[in-house]
Amino acid sequence: MSRQSGSTVARLCVTNAKGGTGKTTVAVNVAGALNERGRDVLFVDLDPQGNATEALGLVESYDAQPPTLFDVLTSADQRSSIADLIVDHDEMDVVPSNIDMLQVEHELTIADLVARVQHDDSIDIDPETLSDLSLNVTPDSVSGAHALDVLDEALAVVEDDYDYVVIDSPPFYGKLTDAGIYASQNILVPALTEASSERAIELLIDQMAALEGQTGITVNTLGVVANRVEKTNEDETMLSWLGEVFEEFPIWEVRKRVALQRAFTAGSSIFQYEESVDMESVFLDVATELDRQFGLLDEEVPA
Ligand SMILES: Nc1ncnc2c1ncn2[C@@H]1O[C@H](COP(=O)(O)OP(=O)(O)OP(=O)(O)O)[C@@H](O)[C@H]1O
Ligand SMILES: [Mg+2]
Repeated sequence: MSRQSGSTVARLCVTNAKGGTGKTTVAVNVAGALNERGRDVLFVDLDPQGNATEALGLVESYDAQPPTLFDVLTSADQRSSIADLIVDHDEMDVVPSNIDMLQVEHELTIADLVARVQHDDSIDIDPETLSDLSLNVTPDSVSGAHALDVLDEALAVVEDDYDYVVIDSPPFYGKLTDAGIYASQNILVPALTEASSERAIELLIDQMAALEGQTGITVNTLGVVANRVEKTNEDETMLSWLGEVFEEFPIWEVRKRVALQRAFTAGSSIFQYEESVDMESVFLDVATELDRQFGLLDEEVPA
């Protein structure tokens, strides 16, 4: 299992650039299932929309004043203040998103350009001039050939207390999503069982190859969560298409269930939600398989 920075913590990023595929639902409920198995989870809401932050009942954090996750990701000297952002939830600890996160993509794009001009002698652009276009980026804060290591660095400060870091990613490909995937190097992919998912999965595969080429990492696919599955012909066709494309990987099926939306609104995973939902067993299967893939299966699960 590939990990960054010698990290011994299992990090995974739930990602698919197509909007509304169930990233947040899957991330929250996989985190809930891991907690159910006795694992300590740090949940990171990397999406500027803050849906997971809201779904975990932490909407006040979304509106909190700086320093926020924005500062952690964009200022090299603020990485360790991630420790001050962690909020308790019954099932997990959470690094909430914040309204300021809407500006992160711009900052990380500038940081990436600064990294490029500093590492490519054929480009005659002053990094100082570029960084003036940002709020927080400075040439000396961007040391490597890319600027995608910002979350990786921040997680290293706090993750020793946890078994897992689960990252919910935004619905677009950009530097923020890349930083989430770079930090984890492991992706869990939710996909709707409808025809439009084919394009989304093809783009995902291309994007992972591009990120690997840019950074030299290998992105490991943990599995696919077919989501909002119903019993139509289209669902059947898409399930078999996913089965062919992800032949070597586990594929789980989460049915369409209103209770998943209700738990979301109630601020918890389905495991803490008052109403029993038959999808619990699916998310527990995902959690068990993650334990297996991360080599944690033999570790005692507390009663
Ligand atoms: N299996 C399901 N059954 C019923 N509703 C679901 C299911 N999965 C997700 N939903 C609902 O679909 C909507 C979109 O799901 P979610 O927010 O998890 O997707 P997302 O990929 O995170 O979206 P975005 O791309 O905006 O981040 C939410 O209202 C959620 O409650
Ligand atoms: Mg989401």
